[in-house]
Amino acid sequence: MDQAIARVARAIECAERILVISGAGLSAESGLPTYRGIGGLYNGFTEDGLPIEQVLSGPVLRSQPALCWKYLAELGRACLGAQPNAGHLAIAELQRRKPQCWVLTQNIDGFHQRAGSPEERLICIHGAMQPLYCQSCAAESETLEAALRGGLPPRCQACGGILRPPVVLFEEMLPEAALEQLYSELGKGFEVVLLVGTSASFPYIAEPVLRTRQAGGFTAEINPDLTLLSHSVDVRLAGRALDVLVNLLSHISSH
Ligand code: APR
Repeated sequence: MDQAIARVARAIECAERILVISGAGLSAESGLPTYRGIGGLYNGFTEDGLPIEQVLSGPVLRSQPALCWKYLAELGRACLGAQPNAGHLAIAELQRRKPQCWVLTQNIDGFHQRAGSPEERLICIHGAMQPLYCQSCAAESETLEAALRGGLPPRCQACGGILRPPVVLFEEMLPEAALEQLYSELGKGFEVVLLVGTSASFPYIAEPVLRTRQAGGFTAEINPDLTLLSHSVDVRLAGRALDVLVNLLSHISSH
């Protein structure tokens, strides 16, 4: 592992434009469940007998808001009850050392922001769990925490409409602004792309890796298991995000 770590550290040290792509595996170390693989949220059916991908979908939020909010509240409580871990902090430290280091996250837990990653270089491609907004009058509402203390589904104080988080639910489109930012930065090219804790299940996650490789850049993956991109990256660091990222940062000079 140490030779592989040294190789990734060297590539990062020599690079200016770096993209870190994070997934649920980074937050697994904070105690949040991943979606796929062992113990993943998607492996089973909910107690309501429906797959989680169905209850956490746009159509169910519209047709059965109380059912959707039952699981949104569960996700929300898990995020509010957990903390960013040393892996998030290591990524924020890397961004401090490298002013053109960006983060593309699929996570909706807000941990990158709480760990100190600059919002202007953080692309949240699946949105976030707050601030809630009203689906009827679009008024932004109280915090998720306050909403979870009240009845579900939470209602807009201004018009009585049902509130929702700005998260991308199943069968919903990705946020335009985040997509535009991603493709604008991709267009400038990245010298290094680092995949952390993601099964790379989506084309917009694979694309930055494949484009960087084609352009002669360096790509690496941090994951205890193999993924769809394991055979496409230059280096695979087979380990847990927290341990590997802390180790990696210790091999990168801070100036
Ligand atoms: N460190 C690093 N990686 C880990 C760890 C860990 N401690 N534990 C698990 N992993 C890896 C798993 O091996 C898996 O490859 O994290 C990955 C988690 O994959 P998913 O559960 O598919 O999560 P993610 O890739 O983020 O899913 C993408 O799917 O449905 C959507 O919105 C959902 O954002 C999510 C997206």
